[in-house]
Amino acid sequence: MTQYVLMNPGPINVSPTVRRALAEGEDLCHRESEYFDLQDRVREKLLTAFGLSPEEWAAVLVTGSGTCVLEAAVVSSLPTGGTMLVVVNGVYGDRIAKMATAHGIEHERVETGWLEPPDLALIEERLTEGRFDVLAAVHHETTTGMLNPVEALGEMAARHGAAFLVDTISGLGGETFDFGAIRPTLAVCTANKCVEGLPGVSFVLVRRDHLDRMTGVPPRSLYLWLPGYFAAQENRSTPFTPAIQVTEALEAALDGLIEESVRGRIARYAEASRILRDGFESLGLELLLPPERRSNTITGLRLPPGIDYDRLHDALKARGYVVYAGPGKLREDTFRISNMGQIPREALEAFAGHLRSALEEVG
Ligand SMILES: Cc1ncc(COP(=O)(O)O)c(C=O)c1O
Repeated sequence: MTQYVLMNPGPINVSPTVRRALAEGEDLCHRESEYFDLQDRVREKLLTAFGLSPEEWAAVLVTGSGTCVLEAAVVSSLPTGGTMLVVVNGVYGDRIAKMATAHGIEHERVETGWLEPPDLALIEERLTEGRFDVLAAVHHETTTGMLNPVEALGEMAARHGAAFLVDTISGLGGETFDFGAIRPTLAVCTANKCVEGLPGVSFVLVRRDHLDRMTGVPPRSLYLWLPGYFAAQENRSTPFTPAIQVTEALEAALDGLIEESVRGRIARYAEASRILRDGFESLGLELLLPPERRSNTITGLRLPPGIDYDRLHDALKARGYVVYAGPGKLREDTFRISNMGQIPREALEAFAGHLRSALEEVG
């Protein structure tokens, strides 16, 4: 079977150690001490990797994709009757608002175009005029690869007494995320992007005082109720059957992250995106975002005139690379290249040449 170079923004190419952990992990019962030891270690390693104090923070594991744990964070972040202000400038901010709608949570959107940053003045105005329990935003909008100003948003949330829920599913591990400066209440992430684990397990890094406040609030969901997961995990238990072997792979991924350090990983990804972007510029391709808004991991590109995305995708796949379509209304004339995960430098350096020949083939 061909091992493609995955240039989609997760799931990513993982290290042999992570893959081995999945394949060679033990068969465990999730009601036995061996599983609880694994769960304890993974929760602890998450805090260690991101430099968080266990007195202030807890890692809560949830079996499911990023959307699953994000929905858990949304429904577990407000008291009964609480309201949420949602920053929307892409698919994933929109998804948070849709989750609020699905659960009957009162909310308001502050929306800008997908190629624009959030309107901080309008957000300040809404936080001043309204009474919001939670401000929710996406750190790295995977829609375009845009970094949103989470530090400014966190400062506003703190000043207005709102909890700050951050979807950093495609950011954490790949971008600087200063918990002290951003002051998130809940930071939501998944195993299979910049943490370099496999899909199936996700997590929230959440302030313990928030979980204390949420205790006693009537659950809005059975499966997606974070205080329930937290209470069980603190007591060496689990409410439901977890993805045990994926958690074993996550432990291996966290060992890798701690060894490389978050700073080291960010530097590796920054260098990878530099190699790719130098190549894109040499091909005369137009990048969607100005340099100051670009992340270390996703490059949004304008499709050259006359190029059909699906044909370009197939031509690149035949050369061993999986690339990613633009989302929603950006599908017609853009595409995305991600450099998350274990991509060898040679594969990054060779990509521009493959892209050139693929463009010539389908043009
Ligand atoms: C910012 C962001 N939020 C949420 C999600 C949803 O995660 P999943 O596809 O794992 O459910 C993604 C996936 O790409 C994402 O990038």
